[in-house]
Amino acid sequence: MKTGTDKNEIIVAPSILSADFTRLKEALDTIKDAGGDWVHTDVMDGHFVPNLTIGPPVIKSMRKQTDMFIDVHLMIEKPELLLNDFIEAGADMITVHAEACTHLNRTLQVIREAGIKAGVALNPATPLNVLDYVLELVDMVLIMTVNPGFGGQKYIPQMTEKIKALRERLNRSCPNVLLQIDGGISTNNITEVTAAGANVIVAGSAFFNAPDKSRFVSELREKSAFIGKI
Ligand code: DX5
Ligand code: ZN
Repeated sequence: MKTGTDKNEIIVAPSILSADFTRLKEALDTIKDAGGDWVHTDVMDGHFVPNLTIGPPVIKSMRKQTDMFIDVHLMIEKPELLLNDFIEAGADMITVHAEACTHLNRTLQVIREAGIKAGVALNPATPLNVLDYVLELVDMVLIMTVNPGFGGQKYIPQMTEKIKALRERLNRSCPNVLLQIDGGISTNNITEVTAAGANVIVAGSAFFNAPDKSRFVSELREKSAFIGKI
């Protein structure tokens, strides 16, 4: 299982948000067979974002059906109230939004203490300085490249500068922290975002709409400019 310890490889994380939710097992197998590395799992509460998806029971069922790395992206208010449920359900990584946490430091500590990986996500308009005092507590920073809530939106071009700025900062202070991007990623912009420094790539609609999903994943890797960069 790839967890990002090899700095020269990108991690491809197809998002099940664009899957048919009545056929999740098939979607998990499709991601594995296509050569995806992680299963990106979008949890939405209808408050933090204007959409509702799944919760811990579904993740628990997914855990029984796959040995893939389950990357849980929590787009929910007060994530601290449900952390233990997501941990017990079998998440391998939990990413919380900085905007949704009153006590971000404590929340990240709880995730880490459970022995799983911790991530912090930033909405497009949130500046990087919210990371100032928490970078040591995270395994990954997620830069949202669309406003969260829905699949199939367009990449926000201003995010390329944000990815670059974060990559420079991570290279200086904590090069092992992964830089994930999420929203509007396809084979058309993979070179741009990886050249800027992203190394964990979420793709929802582009993956599930691809007629040949293995080909899609290979193309993401081939067009990636991150390889050999650091
Ligand atoms: C959006 C979600 C994404 C979504 C991305 O709020 O966080 O993970 O699945 O979908 P695409 O790749 O279609 O933009
Ligand atoms: Zn997501």
